[in-house]
Amino acid sequence: MKLAIIKETREAERRVAASPDTIRKLIGLGFECVVETGAGDAASFHDTHFTDAGASIAATQSEAVGSADVIVSVQGLEADAAAAAKAGAVHVALLNPFVESDRLGALAKAGLTSFAMEFVPRITRAQTMDALSSQANLAGYRAVIEAAQAYGKAFPMMMTAAGTIAAAKVMVMGAGVAGLQAIATAKRLGAVVSATDVRPAAKEQVESLGGKFVMVEDEETAAAETAGGYAKEMSDEYKAKQAALIAETLAKQNIAITTAQIPGRPAPVLISEDMVKSMQPGSVIVDLAVESGGNCALSKVGEVVEIGGVTIIGHRNMPSRLAADASSLYAKNLLAFLTPMVTDGALAIDFEDDIIAQSLVTKDGAIANERLKD
Ligand code: NAI
Repeated sequence: MKLAIIKETREAERRVAASPDTIRKLIGLGFECVVETGAGDAASFHDTHFTDAGASIAATQSEAVGSADVIVSVQGLEADAAAAAKAGAVHVALLNPFVESDRLGALAKAGLTSFAMEFVPRITRAQTMDALSSQANLAGYRAVIEAAQAYGKAFPMMMTAAGTIAAAKVMVMGAGVAGLQAIATAKRLGAVVSATDVRPAAKEQVESLGGKFVMVEDEETAAAETAGGYAKEMSDEYKAKQAALIAETLAKQNIAITTAQIPGRPAPVLISEDMVKSMQPGSVIVDLAVESGGNCALSKVGEVVEIGGVTIIGHRNMPSRLAADASSLYAKNLLAFLTPMVTDGALAIDFEDDIIAQSLVTKDGAIANERLKD
């Protein structure tokens, strides 16, 4: 049973899908692990760390994947590289399945049995496999650190002989995994924090972290949460009411961290151009949803822009800015996902299992997931 770990090729990707710790455990399960040379360099895991843990090193991606039974990655094999893999091999990665349909087609064509880590259901048994949460948590933390760095003032209130500095006012939009960590991080730095969401369940979580919860609550929000815990897209009428509330609140804020997402849909635009203009010069917006369309109308993917003295940070791939931690946690999510697939040192996948069935995206040459059929 050979398992390959490839070097990521996408822009701004510094993570790797294994750590020396998970390599040891994968070997314990019966895998022979092959790491493409340099795969972990950007996450501070060097080839020697992997070989010390028992892996071997391949000089190229095709050498690593050529005879592998399982291929793991952060962002997945590219369409043109899929053909180098063995038909029937298992491929597990964050495959961005709603967006990258062409790539999924190529994985199917290559005969791979592919699993998208984004589709692992958020049930108790799968908590250790929840890569969306492990990465979003780090992204939420890092977003606040980025904001603090760009902000020309301090976060905590300081009373000094030379005068008093007021605490920074931070607003977090979208109080899911990333948002809650952003609230906790901003509080730890001493900011006064408020947050908004469309799911009323978020209120208690925000308040338990010491944040002030601000939301438009009406008959629509009672049904805003899906069975999976995600938000639905709201009506135009709700959006207008929410925009009025955000406009009023945002003008008094120094920092906005936006994290609002709707799975399979573009991110909702919560901060309009006029709202940006209403903020004080020196304010900072970090748009964590920038890669799925953006929560701020003026954010730009991969760029930091300044408009009217307001800095808008649109970094791609925020978890990758904490590559060592993000890799370690993602590698553990993968280990937890792969472990039940192995019995007595051999792959034995139970395709009836709920976690397997929901995360499976390609099999036997075809797309194999109901959520992707349209
Ligand atoms: P996400 O990344 O899809 O969205 C982030 C946040 O944006 C969510 O809280 C969502 O309600 C909010 N949002 C969406 N549209 C909005 C709008 N128009 N205005 C304001 N906010 C908006 O969500 P994430 O972080 O992946 O979490 C989704 C849910 O899953 C949460 O309820 C979370 O508590 C739950 N969860 C459950 C887990 C488990 O039971 N194992 C593990 C992790 C999360």
